[in-house]
Amino acid sequence: MTDQRIVEFNESSEYILQRCKQQPTIGIILGSGLGKLADKIESPTIIPYKDIPHFKTSTAIGHKGNMIIGRLGGKIVMAMQGRFHYYEGYTMQEVTYPVRVMYAMGIKKLMVSNAAGGINPTFKVGDLMLITDHINLMPNPLIGKNIEKIGPRFPDMTRAYDTSMQKIAIDTATTLGITLKQGTYVAGTGPTFETPAEYKFFGIIGGDAVGMSTVPEVIVARHCGIDVMGMSVISNEAHTITQDTINDGNDVIVAADKAADKMTLLFTNIIKQL
Ligand code: HPA
Repeated sequence: MTDQRIVEFNESSEYILQRCKQQPTIGIILGSGLGKLADKIESPTIIPYKDIPHFKTSTAIGHKGNMIIGRLGGKIVMAMQGRFHYYEGYTMQEVTYPVRVMYAMGIKKLMVSNAAGGINPTFKVGDLMLITDHINLMPNPLIGKNIEKIGPRFPDMTRAYDTSMQKIAIDTATTLGITLKQGTYVAGTGPTFETPAEYKFFGIIGGDAVGMSTVPEVIVARHCGIDVMGMSVISNEAHTITQDTINDGNDVIVAADKAADKMTLLFTNIIKQL
């Protein structure tokens, strides 16, 4: 008997494919303040999430809630302009549902982006960080009955971020003269920003940047064998209690928006080589 979850993934997938009449090969998830990349997609088919069977709608600030299919860097891409966050109250199955749909559509590569707080003291607001690994402090989206047809019960996470995509990203950044930092992304549930002690702790355990997204989607993508590349825009820097600064969600969006053109250029040129 077919798992009901697969029936739903396929219904969402078929709806999107019918609307766009093209076969995307690359999925893109655009993080907070990074939706601009979608404006560069040529001959786009724009599908609001609310039109797609079984899809949720996205409520977070800086997230529009559209699926955009079209040509970028010479490839057919499908970009999510806005993602679902666990802190919005969605279940982990809902947060990662779009990745299941990408798999059902035949997408083989996924590029994820986010705005993140810099923990590594050498990182500054506006920097781009290639995600080389992660530390997951959120509930795992694969908890529950495994869908054997899609992937294994115990997926490997040794190289969650595809090394050949990383190499392309590094070489492309060099060619374009864009400074690309590298590091480990720590994923927390949010919605609170970190206390100074938490920022310090995340640095001690090996984190370079921290955010409230991305890792659930990466885990689900790896489960079904999709290659992943991840990039963070550093939107704020970890600070201590005595520093005269606080975190603000709107500042995060403004900082991410400022770096969005740089990230879009980099993504477009990476896609040309995929
Ligand atoms: N912490 C968690 N999530 C974030 C941050 C942060 O400092 N900045 C952007 N997203």
